[in-house]
Amino acid sequence: MKPGGGDTFASIPGPGGAGDGLADIVAAGGLHNYQLTLHAKYGPVVRFRLPGAETAVSIADPVLLEATAKVDKRPEKLFEFLAPLQESDNLQTLSAAEHTPWRRVLLSVLAGRRSHEAHFGQFVTLTCDLADRWAASDEPVALQQHLSELSLRMICDYALGAGADSPEQAGRIVSAFEDVLTDQLARLYQADLPGTDAERGARAQQALVFLRTTVDDVLAAHQKVDVAHQDVAGQGAAWPGSAHQGDARRTDTRRTDSSDLISALATAGQPPARIRDTVLMTMLAAHHTTGVAISWTLYLLAQHPEVADRVAEEVADVLGNRPAPDYADLKRLTYLKMVLEESMRLYPPGPYGAREISEDLRVGDYTIPAGTTIFYPIWAVHLNPEYWPQPEVFRPERFSAAESAGRPRLAYIPFGLGPRSCEGAALAMVEAQLVLAVLVRRFRFELAPGHSVVPVERFVLWAADDIRMNLTSRVI
Ligand code: HEM
Repeated sequence: MKPGGGDTFASIPGPGGAGDGLADIVAAGGLHNYQLTLHAKYGPVVRFRLPGAETAVSIADPVLLEATAKVDKRPEKLFEFLAPLQESDNLQTLSAAEHTPWRRVLLSVLAGRRSHEAHFGQFVTLTCDLADRWAASDEPVALQQHLSELSLRMICDYALGAGADSPEQAGRIVSAFEDVLTDQLARLYQADLPGTDAERGARAQQALVFLRTTVDDVLAAHQKVDVAHQDVAGQGAAWPGSAHQGDARRTDTRRTDSSDLISALATAGQPPARIRDTVLMTMLAAHHTTGVAISWTLYLLAQHPEVADRVAEEVADVLGNRPAPDYADLKRLTYLKMVLEESMRLYPPGPYGAREISEDLRVGDYTIPAGTTIFYPIWAVHLNPEYWPQPEVFRPERFSAAESAGRPRLAYIPFGLGPRSCEGAALAMVEAQLVLAVLVRRFRFELAPGHSVVPVERFVLWAADDIRMNLTSRVI
């Protein structure tokens, strides 16, 4: 839909000028700084020029954001860079009619306690293996790189279930996914990477075929087992305990377990191309985000050793002699959770969101015309001084029950909002809490001397040259 309502749009405060806005963003030192400047100058609702959007309005006030909370459409142009990875339509911009049932299946797997518990043991193993490798090395650790890979291994287990059971197969999947992503990010940010575009493109294409075939194999196994179960059920009472029934159930219980994403999507009747796309998109959405959330938290803890000590004491109280928590322990790690929340306020892994409105929308004193891109400046919302006094200060107590009471719910939106918010939010919290509990219990983190950490806004909020830490064992 073409934007209309020129007069109403012009009545929204914002800068003048021509062009697509890129020069203003660059001059401000990035989109986040630009948002901070715009909102400081023009107030909580600002019209501005955003590359890829004909007209855009940014809203940095949590109460005013409520007016947008039911909008169920993303602007296609801003997300078209993901289209080449998808066979069955761009999942980020699916119509609401297709998105709603797809989201329901995703939530049934990603948000459910039962499936979190089913995968928790494997998450613990992966995390403790990483901690062992760190303990055995004297080199500074590149947190982002290691923790993004750990998150990717976790989501592989979650998405593919038995399809990523062996470490070799999981390793192949992780490296294929990285080939795809490297190529994608290089195109998006024109990064200077080894090899020619053509070489990287060919490698990425091969990797994509491998990943899709892997999903197909898991799907085929799932369907085979379904048929076997139907056969068994069809045999009635004559078959219980037979070798046929026993084999099918023993070898493939995890494949038929709806705690795996693929199984749940297949059971819900989603077509194979959509399932392949979903697995790829979930891996993409899940791994850098969770990886940087944990990395930024450890970065903040290194700068606030007294907070790190308090987290370590809480973990020791809850765990006793055990190296890792059980799933049920997580809800007792209340201070650790507050630290993670405060870290995602200061360094939101996904710093922006966007919607497109199909009808005029009243927001505070303004009418925003249909067709406008609504921009969610998540990072600036988290620094709004009206709701976060001294917003730049790291203070986990902000998330205590007492301080949270009365704060508008959209003052804190690391996972976005409304019908397109992050389906992986609950899973990400489980993963991040577990990993932090294991690592903070075991190590003290200190920034490697001379290493400077510079946040850059990429697909996620990334540290330009990683976050390099020296580790020492923590004796409690
Ligand atoms: C700390 C970790 C994570 C953060 C901060 C995060 C943040 C976000 C944000 C800001 C969005 C956009 C929401 C919006 O437009 O309102 C999003 C979307 C999404 N995230 Fe996450 N995410 C994280 C981890 C995960 C994980 C672990 C998964 C899956 C296992 C996941 C799956 C998704 C999906 C599928 C979407 C697209 C939502 C849709 O279009 O319906 N994310 N995430």
